[in-house]
Amino acid sequence: MFLSLSLILVCVNIVSSAVTVTRTDQGPTGYEVTITYQNASVSNVIISGLPHLTDQYSTSWWSWSDFDLSEYKPGDFPRDPLIGSYYVMNKTRPGVFTWTRPLFSGTFQYSFLLDCAQPSLCNTTTGQEITDPTNPPFESVPGSELISTFQVPYHHDFQFYPDQNINQDYALPYGTNSSKGSINIETYHSPGSISPSPGIHDYVVYLPAEYDGNDTTKEYPLLYLSHGGNGAAADWQNQAYVSNILDRLIGDGHMEATVVVMPTWYGILPNTTNPQALLQRNYPDPPTTASLYSKYLFPHIESNYRVSNESSRRAFAGLSQGSFLTYSFYVNYTSYFGYYGIMSGGPATNSENDAPSLSGYVNSSMVASNPDLLTRGIFVSYGQYDVLFTDARRLQQALDDIGAVYVTRFVPWAFHFWNNWQDSFWHMGRMALWKPIPFTKSTGHGQ
Ligand SMILES: *[C@@H]1O[C@H](CO)[C@@H](O)[C@H](O)[C@H]1NC(C)=O
Ligand SMILES: *[C@@H]1O[C@H](CO)[C@@H](O)[C@H](O)[C@H]1NC(C)=O
Ligand SMILES: *[C@@H]1O[C@H](CO)[C@@H](O)[C@H](O)[C@H]1NC(C)=O
Ligand SMILES: *[C@@H]1O[C@H](CO)[C@@H](O)[C@H](O)[C@H]1NC(C)=O
Ligand SMILES: *[C@@H]1O[C@H](CO)[C@@H](O)[C@H](O)[C@H]1NC(C)=O
Ligand SMILES: *[C@@H]1O[C@H](CO)[C@@H](O)[C@H](O)[C@H]1NC(C)=O
Ligand SMILES: *[C@@H]1O[C@H](CO)[C@@H](O)[C@H](O)[C@H]1NC(C)=O
Ligand SMILES: *[C@@H]1O[C@H](CO)[C@@H](O)[C@H](O)[C@H]1NC(C)=O
Ligand SMILES: *[C@@H]1O[C@H](CO)[C@@H](O)[C@H](O)[C@H]1NC(C)=O
Repeated sequence: MFLSLSLILVCVNIVSSAVTVTRTDQGPTGYEVTITYQNASVSNVIISGLPHLTDQYSTSWWSWSDFDLSEYKPGDFPRDPLIGSYYVMNKTRPGVFTWTRPLFSGTFQYSFLLDCAQPSLCNTTTGQEITDPTNPPFESVPGSELISTFQVPYHHDFQFYPDQNINQDYALPYGTNSSKGSINIETYHSPGSISPSPGIHDYVVYLPAEYDGNDTTKEYPLLYLSHGGNGAAADWQNQAYVSNILDRLIGDGHMEATVVVMPTWYGILPNTTNPQALLQRNYPDPPTTASLYSKYLFPHIESNYRVSNESSRRAFAGLSQGSFLTYSFYVNYTSYFGYYGIMSGGPATNSENDAPSLSGYVNSSMVASNPDLLTRGIFVSYGQYDVLFTDARRLQQALDDIGAVYVTRFVPWAFHFWNNWQDSFWHMGRMALWKPIPFTKSTGHGQ
């Protein structure tokens, strides 16, 4: 009995060592990561998603440097992940592949590309893409998360750079088990949904550590947190370790204990124009999603969780295309939420290259008929190299024009990617959520 138990533990150990993060206390970063993949039927493997690097002195919206991770210097940060980032894994013996590099503070996402005809030209269309079988993604519907994730700590001796702080340790696990919230996959009834099953739709929910404690009457503030284009309900947890960030925000006293609901608009309706599309990849426009959430998701959450029924204790936030949805709620459901977090986007004008125009953004005649547009707690964030930089800045200009006071996080090293939104979320939790509204020019000052 004991013997077989210890054999099982040995096996578990071997499997879980597929990603090894080692503190080396040596340059260039103080940490080294080794990833191992075993598959006897494969002849070559590319690891996809782990970054190549650039620095602020050679980066613009259109161009960047291209350093291998082994060339890391303090102040470097990941290059635009949208252009593809690939490393060839070493074949150490038949069927065994390894990859070793120094890595720095952050959450890293990767997948494997198998058997590319030309490994040096491999990409996600030419190779078979899989997640790491020994480090499977957290997902609400099988196949909805296409990447595996790990976290590397900050090492002040090797990564500190006064002009560019890229410490993302806020996403590391926080505290003891009793200070960790729970993260769960749930479903609700949403007529028309095609995923995960007819009429049933999925969401992920974070309940703070104290939720199941002694006080069974307490009602919690409620945040809805949306993914972006091509995303899914589990994105914030799988790609950004949002429960770790929340545990830390709450545990360190930056933010009140909050229930966080992460819904998904994919698969919420059948697609009549594109029936061939993958079920989970179908989606309606933001106003349709907003009305479906409002009709079916919100009442479900309010009757199944101990959450406040006051708008001043409710927030909606989202990234990229999820910020278009957030803007939709801001404009059309203004008084239902007290707070809006608009990360890397705005009103979906998608007009980065057009002549400047605020058409489609909030304006004074909208305020005249809907004065609550000025009384909400608005948080706007975006990155220096964000593809929606212009859209986000125009949103700020429109908000300034109507006299709305909002809180901003500008992420100086960020492209349109998860490290940007983790940083934005951290700042939203510290500086904006559940702070007195309407915001003033002192909100967040000195924190
Ligand atoms: C092994 O490789 C094959 C392709 O040769 C692939 O279909 C399969 O999913 C891989 N298995 C694992 C466990 O990664
Ligand atoms: C591959 O193996 C060589 C020789 O052992 C080593 O120098 C190199 O760093 C390895 N590359 C990776 C990506 O692990
Ligand atoms: C993938 O690689 C092939 C062959 O090199 C190339 O033709 C194709 O454009 C690449 N696709 C992407 C998305 O980079
Ligand atoms: C903490 O939680 C993890 C995962 O659920 C579990 O494996 C571990 O035993 C727990 N530790 C303690 C001290 O309860
Ligand atoms: C919860 O109740 C138990 C049993 O009455 C008690 O021992 C414990 O101290 C309480 N915990 C808190 C945090 O109040
Ligand atoms: C259907 O698919 C088209 C094309 O992919 C997309 O533009 C549209 O938003 C989808 N509609 C729904 C309801 O999923
Ligand atoms: C909110 O809940 C309280 C009791 O918990 C109730 O008295 C009040 O009417 C509710 N308000 C709304 C707007 O539903
Ligand atoms: C607000 O609602 C109207 C009417 O349904 C719709 O036409 C408009 O697109 C919505 N605005 C946004 C920003 O979603
Ligand atoms: C303000 O926005 C509304 C809604 O988009 C639009 O109908 C109206 O023309 C705009 N007014 C001005 C003065 O731009």
